[in-house]
Amino acid sequence: MLKTKRLELVGFDVKYANDFFELWSDFEVIKYTFTPLLTTIDECINLIEHQINRTNKGFIDRFVILLNNKAIGMVGCICMDKGNFIYGLYYQISRVHWGCGYASEAASALMHYVLNEYPNAIFKAEVVSENPASASVLRKIGLKQTHIEENGFKRNNFELDLIHYSNA
Ligand SMILES: CC(C)(COP(=O)(O)OP(=O)(O)OC[C@H]1O[C@@H](n2cnc3c(N)ncnc32)[C@H](O)[C@@H]1OP(=O)(O)O)[C@@H](O)C(=O)NCCC(=O)NCCS
Repeated sequence: MLKTKRLELVGFDVKYANDFFELWSDFEVIKYTFTPLLTTIDECINLIEHQINRTNKGFIDRFVILLNNKAIGMVGCICMDKGNFIYGLYYQISRVHWGCGYASEAASALMHYVLNEYPNAIFKAEVVSENPASASVLRKIGLKQTHIEENGFKRNNFELDLIHYSNA
């Protein structure tokens, strides 16, 4: 478990299904991610189990974000290149908690946790052009824009430019 000033970051568990259903049934939360829009709690339990199965067993790479024991989102860092210690950062916060600094606080804690284990770790992230809040999070935690991938994000019937960020 990781702790920040206001948050706890813990492993995925189906006991958070109701909270994650709130998150993943909200199109405004998932529209710029690859998370499917959920319509039932059973789908949510399946998706949490999928997260549990995909969690790295040796070095945990994805966390539930808890605020006063309620799951308000998730943050993760997928290893993209083991040899070069490259990690892809991502995060989602429940809409009622946007704008309170929680994504930045959780992502920053995750970066410190990775850097503590792998001091040469490089972080990368992508943001669609219409997601300034996410771009602001990345800037606040020290990542800089590297390049733009034209129409790099495709979901359902829309395409958007993808802005790439890195701390390297
Ligand atoms: C992106 C997201 C995680 C941000 O979470 P959050 O907890 O609100 O983030 P923070 O409060 O730490 O920081 C948000 C920053 O964006 C800024 N912001 C919010 N909306 C903005 C907008 N429309 N234009 C510009 N800046 C904006 C806020 O002012 C804040 O910056 P500040 O602290 O300098 O004022 C949240 O909006 C979310 O879950 N979105 C849906 C999922 C998603 O897009 N994930 C990222 C995929 S790349």
